[in-house]
Order: sequence, then C-alpha cells, then structure tokens
Amino acid sequence: MNLASQGGLPGTRPEGVTDEREAAARVREMFGRIAPRYDLLNHLLSLDIDKIWRRRVAKRFAGILHDSSARVLDLCCGTGDLAFAFRKQAPLGAAITGSDFVPEMLVRSRAKAAASSVNVEFVEADALALPFADNSFDLVSCAFGFRNLANYERGLQEIFRVLKPGGQAAILEFAEPQGKLFGALYRFYFRHMLPRLGGLISGNAEAYTYLPRSVSKFPAPEDLRLQFERAGFKKTGFERWTGGIVTLHRGGKS
Ligand SMILES: C[S@@+](CC[C@H](N)C(=O)[O-])C[C@H]1O[C@@H](n2cnc3c(N)ncnc32)[C@H](O)[C@@H]1O
Repeated sequence: MNLASQGGLPGTRPEGVTDEREAAARVREMFGRIAPRYDLLNHLLSLDIDKIWRRRVAKRFAGILHDSSARVLDLCCGTGDLAFAFRKQAPLGAAITGSDFVPEMLVRSRAKAAASSVNVEFVEADALALPFADNSFDLVSCAFGFRNLANYERGLQEIFRVLKPGGQAAILEFAEPQGKLFGALYRFYFRHMLPRLGGLISGNAEAYTYLPRSVSKFPAPEDLRLQFERAGFKKTGFERWTGGIVTLHRGGKS
C-alpha cells in the first residue's frame, strides 16, 4: 500500500491517545521509567545481537566516520550505544553528538562516556524540533527511536534539515520478519515472552507491551522508503537484517 500518496504517515500513538503532544509525553515518561534497566534489558532480550547491529551500522557508514572533519548526530540516542560505536570508528577530530529528550537516559549515556573517557557530547533535544542549524551534520542516525516519534513526517523533515548537502541519514528499526516459520516463532517470542520478561525485569509491563504493538503498527520498509523520498532524500534504500527483525534505512541529501 502506498501510504505516502495518502498524505503522510502518523507517528506513534500509545493505546487510547490521539493528541500528538500527549503521545510524546507518554513516550517520554515511559522511557524515563525504564532508563535504569534499559541496557540490561536491551542486551538480555536481544541475546546481545543489538550490539552487532549497532557495530554494523557504524561499519556501513565508515566512509563518513573515518573523516576527521565529520560531524555526526545520533538521534534518540538513549544510553548512547550507537554514538559509542561511531566513536570507535572515527578519528579524534570527528565530532559525535547524541541527543534524546529523556534526561534519565542522558544521565546514563554521560556516565558511560565519562567512565570510559570517550569523547561524545550528549544533548537534551526533541527529535521533532532539533536545536541545530540547517546543514550541520554529515551523518544523522536513529536506532530504535524513530518508531517512537509522534510524527514520522516531521521526524524525517528535521533529519533532512540538519543534514549537510551530501550527508546521509540512517534509521535502524525493528520490523516484522517475513519468513513463515521464523516469523511465527519470532512473533510468539516478541508478543508473548518479551512483554512478560521485560515487564518482570524492568518493573514496567506497559513499556514491553508497547514495544511489539508499536512495531506491528510501524510502516513496512517499502512505505518508510517512500516517506524518505517524500521528505526529499535521494538514493534511498533499505537492508533487512537478521531474518528481517530489523531494517536499516538510508537516504542522502544532495
Ligand atoms: C528504544 S530507545 C533507543 C535508544 C538507543 N538509540 C538504542 O539504540 O538503544 C528509544 C529512545 O528514543 C527516545 N525518544 C523517543 N522519542 C523521542 C523524541 N521525540 N525526541 C528525542 N528522543 C526521543 C527515547 O527517550 C529513548 O531513549
């Protein structure tokens, strides 16, 4: 289905919420509550595969990251792991910034940076109203955060605005796997086991019921690609990883 031709995709709305601002407030509150156990749960529930995914994103964009004058922004950075993966690839001169609108996440990302003496700047910012000038970054990424935005169209417009001409956008998101058997097994894990485990360990059942629900409502890769094009991106494309559990989307600003 070509959703792009229907006037854009609405963003995430937690159950029963229609207002965009209220949706964002609920998402912010939810991530604030799970922040203390976010890393533990991430690695546990994905069996550490999330680390491989972030490293792979960094490798895909090594051409940009290896430039000592590169400016890189990781949106919805959470506890900072993608920004740290970028830092490992980048020379000292390259500037890596992570941004998120939940202070409890940023406390942790800054503590991790300080603990391993890593030079990444973390900024509190809403991805839908970024405090950065037009044409500022060579690479803008977002891992597992874009799905949570209350307005996908505006999210893409903001990414496009802050990218320099020639810059690249990278969005890593969960997706519904396509294979029949693998898809069925994965859906059982994702919809039934993960919410229970996540709720038990984080003490916040809502967040881990919201996760599979938000993934099932997220646009299919083909539809998101159309949204990239609609926002002005060129040379768009996506790759399915790990049987289609996640998708890396990319697009360039010419
Ligand atoms: C699932 S976490 C992903 C964190 C990190 N990128 C990772 O790979 O682990 C989603 C993050 O998106 C952030 N987020 C959601 N909506 C946001 C918005 N509108 N502006 C900024 N951050 C947002 C949340 O606070 C949360 O830290």
